[in-house]
Amino acid sequence: MANKVVLAYSGGLDTTVAVAWLKEQIDADVVAVAVDVGQGGDLEAVRERALKAGASDSHLVDARDEFAAEYVSPALKANAMYQQKYPLVSALSRPLIAKHLARVAREQSAEYVAHGCTGKGNDQVRFEVALGALAPDLEVLAPVREWGMTRADAIDYGLEHGLPITVNKASPYSIDQNMWGRTIECGDLEDPMIEPASDIWELTREPSEAPRTARYLEIGFERGTPVSVDGAKVTIAQAVDEVGRAAGEYGFGRVDMIEDRVVGIKSREIYEVPGALALIAAHSDLEELTVERELIRTKRSLELRYAQMVYEGLWYSSLREALDAFIESASQPVSGTVRLKLEAGSVRPVGRSSPDSLYDLSLATYDTADAFDHAAGAGFVKIWGLPSKVWGRTRKGKDGTPPRSPAE
Ligand code: ARG
Repeated sequence: MANKVVLAYSGGLDTTVAVAWLKEQIDADVVAVAVDVGQGGDLEAVRERALKAGASDSHLVDARDEFAAEYVSPALKANAMYQQKYPLVSALSRPLIAKHLARVAREQSAEYVAHGCTGKGNDQVRFEVALGALAPDLEVLAPVREWGMTRADAIDYGLEHGLPITVNKASPYSIDQNMWGRTIECGDLEDPMIEPASDIWELTREPSEAPRTARYLEIGFERGTPVSVDGAKVTIAQAVDEVGRAAGEYGFGRVDMIEDRVVGIKSREIYEVPGALALIAAHSDLEELTVERELIRTKRSLELRYAQMVYEGLWYSSLREALDAFIESASQPVSGTVRLKLEAGSVRPVGRSSPDSLYDLSLATYDTADAFDHAAGAGFVKIWGLPSKVWGRTRKGKDGTPPRSPAE
C-alpha cells in the first residue's frame, strides 16, 4: 500500500504544485484538505482543483462555526492584538487547520501531513508546533520550504505537469483571508516607504469616500461575547461580518505596520480588519465599565502576552489554556451594550451600559447627589503620598531646593 500524505490545500499555486511534487518525491497518495474558515470564494472548486492536480482524495471541511466559537471568540475576549495592532487573523486559523489535518491523517492512517508554507514565515511555525502538540507521531513535510523554486519555477513546473493553475491572473500579492480579516503581503508592499496601492483593499473604503453622515451601531455582549447588533440577535460570525461591513464602509479597519516575525525578520504587513478592530474597541470599552480595577489591570498586561503566544504558534499550550481560563473568569461581568459611532475613517465607542456596571453615579458626580466622602480624601492622599514625601526629603538640590530631575 502506498504512503499517504494529508496536505493542507488552499487552491493556490504553491499547494497545487505541492500535490504533484509530493507524489513524485515520496511516491505517496496525496489527500488534500481545504478548510473553510470564512475566507470566501468557491471552495468546492478548490476541492475539485486538488483532484485535477492529482490528489487521490480531496476534502472540504466547513470549520466556520468552530473557528468562530473556539478561536475568534477567545481572541476577542482577550482583545488579542500582536504589537497592539494586528488581531492575529492568520495566526488564529493555522492551529484549527492543523487540527483538521491531524484528524484526517488519523482517519486515513496516513504517516505524513504537509503544508505549503515557506521557510521564512510564521505559518510554518504555527502548523508544525500545533501538529507536534496534537499528533507527535505524524511526520510533517514542507514541500515549498524544500523545493527551492521561485514563483516562476513553480509556474513552469505547474505548466509542464499540466496542473490546474491560473497563471494569467497571478497577483503580486500574497493574501490570506478568513472571517476575522484579511492579510496582504509581497509585491511593492515590501518597500516600507511605499503606500499601498488603492486597489489592494477589498473590505474597506477609502476614508475620503465614506458616507458623509455618521452612523451608530449598538453591540450587545453577554459575558464577553457579542450577541446582538442594533438589537437583532447574531452569532459571532454574523457580528464580525455585519460590524465589519459597516465599519469598512466608513473607511475603518486598515493596518499598515512593521511586524516582528517569529523567525527574527522585520516585515511590512498590511491588514484589513474592520470587524475585528471595531469589536475589540467595543468589547474593551465594556470591560472598562464592568471589570474591577485590579482585575482589568492584570488582564490588560496578560493580553499582550496572549497575543504574542498565539502569534508565535503556541495555541495548543498549557499557557494558552491557563490564560483562557483566567480570561473566561474575567469575562463573567462583561455583559451590556456599547454604542459605536462610525465616521469617515473612525469607529469609536460613544456610549455604554450594563446590568453589571461598576459605574456609580453617586460616587462619580460633581452634582448635588454626590455621595463620595470628600473628607476621607484628605487622609487618603496623606497616607498614599507618604513614600513620595519621604523620598523627596532626601533629594534636596545643592541650594536646598528640590531637584528638577533625579540626575541633578
Ligand atoms: N504576518 C501575518 C502573520 O504572520 C500574515 C501571514 C499571512 N500568511 C500568508 N501565508 N500569506 O500572521
